[in-house]
Amino acid sequence: MPKYAKNQPVDFINAIERVAIVGAGGTIGSHITNALLETGRHTVTALSRKSSGNSLPKGVLVAPVDYDDEATIIAALKGQQFFIITMAPTAPRDTHSKLVQAAAKAGIPYVMPNGYGGDIDNIKLGADTLLGPVAQANRDEIERLDMQWITVCCGFWYDYSLAGGAARFGFDFDTRSLTLYDDGNTKNSTSTLAQVGRAVAKVLSLKELPEDEDDTSLTLSTFLNKGVYIKSFVLTQNDMFESVKRVTGTTDTDWTVTHEDTKKRYEDGLAQVKVGNMAGFSKMLYARAFYPYDSNDLSAKAQNELLGLPDESLDESTKVGIDLVKELQLRVERMAA
Ligand SMILES: NC(=O)c1ccc[n+]([C@@H]2O[C@H](COP(=O)([O-])OP(=O)(O)OC[C@H]3O[C@@H](n4cnc5c(N)ncnc54)[C@H](OP(=O)(O)O)[C@@H]3O)[C@@H](O)[C@H]2O)c1
Repeated sequence: MPKYAKNQPVDFINAIERVAIVGAGGTIGSHITNALLETGRHTVTALSRKSSGNSLPKGVLVAPVDYDDEATIIAALKGQQFFIITMAPTAPRDTHSKLVQAAAKAGIPYVMPNGYGGDIDNIKLGADTLLGPVAQANRDEIERLDMQWITVCCGFWYDYSLAGGAARFGFDFDTRSLTLYDDGNTKNSTSTLAQVGRAVAKVLSLKELPEDEDDTSLTLSTFLNKGVYIKSFVLTQNDMFESVKRVTGTTDTDWTVTHEDTKKRYEDGLAQVKVGNMAGFSKMLYARAFYPYDSNDLSAKAQNELLGLPDESLDESTKVGIDLVKELQLRVERMAA
């Protein structure tokens, strides 16, 4: 049965005002948190481990939690309307489930699960990269617990993936070398970290429900149990290389370019992962997403216009990525995986 604002209790406010987030100081979580705070429409509460050394964006409320003490998570989530999970991939496997179970006990109606990747409807790509079944299980658990989810399908993060070393978009800025997958001409859709943050803030700033049967405006409820599809740029590695050369003032002669077969690279990475060497994970993931006949291009589904997301400058985003290189290099354990 569709829900309408007109049928809600008299004190119902048709807006998401109270948002809780895990990872407010993290890669994507910090962008989402800042974008939410910038709207001036939301109170943002960060669930953060008591032992966390992460610094959190200014203006966020902090709720210290202990993943081994569910009561701390339930207490932090009580009274919140929307719960966003941005969780480090290196966190213990059961952490997401612990959060979701606590959210149900706290009475949270809506959860944005960890994801922030490819098209959830591309089952084959999801299975080949090992990420699909995990994300599906996370969404299923939310539904089983009578909550609803909205997940973000954004493709690779452009700036992060450009900066994140040769295992990602192939660039090593320290040695000025580039590994092109096949001929470097396969397109992938990408989103900048800032665009993901804006998209989440846009969705959470919509009315929660339509006023009544005649209200056809876009609401948060439009996206329930669905993906929000967004993009910044649809690019080949060669397109990225042209932008990198413009931004760094370099030419072909400054770079060592090699080619690698995507299938071989995927299989090598997967073999490493299968023996527990997580250094193979990014290699496997990015190589698979650049398969020429089944790349990670979700741009046909992008809802940028619907959400009023801005067009961005490729070269400015490339510069943001290059500025991230040193910062990501400090995250040794994380970037190795
Ligand atoms: N599309 C892409 O290109 C792309 C790239 C990378 C990742 N992703 C996706 O985005 C998700 C979030 O990635 P991210 O880089 O934003 O995460 P992140 O910054 O590495 O970590 C997010 C938060 O996780 C918490 N955390 C860290 N280690 C933990 C542990 N051992 N146990 C419990 N909590 C821990 C921390 O919060 P506190 O310190 O506050 O507790 C941290 O701020 C990933 O899991 C992945 O699904 C997508």
